[in-house]
Amino acid sequence: MAMIGLFDTGHGGLTIYKALRAAMPLRQFVYFGDHGRAPYGTKSATEILELTKSAIITLFERGCPLVVLACNTATAIALRSLQQEWLPHSEYKNRRVLGIIVPTVEIATTSHADAPMNKHETLAVFATQRTIESQVFEVEIHKRNPLANVIPQICPHLAGAIEAGASEGELEKQVQDAVAACLEKTNGTAPQRAILGCTHFPIVEHLFKKYLPASTVLFSQGTAVADRLADYLQRHPEFNQREEKRADVFLTSGDAIAVSRDAQRFLGLSLPFERCAK
Ligand code: DGL
Repeated sequence: MAMIGLFDTGHGGLTIYKALRAAMPLRQFVYFGDHGRAPYGTKSATEILELTKSAIITLFERGCPLVVLACNTATAIALRSLQQEWLPHSEYKNRRVLGIIVPTVEIATTSHADAPMNKHETLAVFATQRTIESQVFEVEIHKRNPLANVIPQICPHLAGAIEAGASEGELEKQVQDAVAACLEKTNGTAPQRAILGCTHFPIVEHLFKKYLPASTVLFSQGTAVADRLADYLQRHPEFNQREEKRADVFLTSGDAIAVSRDAQRFLGLSLPFERCAK
């Protein structure tokens, strides 16, 4: 079956990879992490667009007809413009690029213990500065539930701190501050739902669980993306033709040895990253 390319700025997309790997055992994945240039969450929109385009080309050139941006920042800032203004006019026009925000919102606004979302529910979104500023999560949530009370919360340095291998204490402080700032906006009321809208954040999900009220349902992006991607692939047989399955490939623009070590540390995954200059 067609290889699927996964892109993230660094380690975060591995949280999506882990879910896809479990859900699609017959697929081959090619992962590219731009660890050498992460984090993107505080870069300009123009820079994010260019870096994302170049990462997609890297994955296309490795033979992936379909690339999933396993990164909310790249999805929020670059996806629409690359899908509409670049891809159809490029030499890769028969290939496809998908994002992860709509799949996440689709799941987070419907499946709450299999019950639909109540009209006035409060939904917190924790994400990078650029993702929150883009308002893409709010727009997509309000398309499905116009009365939802969305609480966007920037976690300005959390993805960068994870990339930099910050101590557990430092990460805990950042999560604690972000949750406190979010709860201040709700006057202490527990949000019914919360989305970790940065693929790096599931790495510190235990810390979000520690500080969020116990009644807040935390949505996992990995399973949401796996669910919606399986549905997409079923509707697109061109990506399901039989091909020999080879081992997954892991590329990084950073230090391959350090990145493999961190993948083990953060996600318990033993992955042979190789350096790719891009
Ligand atoms: N993991 C990314 C996301 O989902 C980006 C983190 C960053 O590079 O700032 O937004």
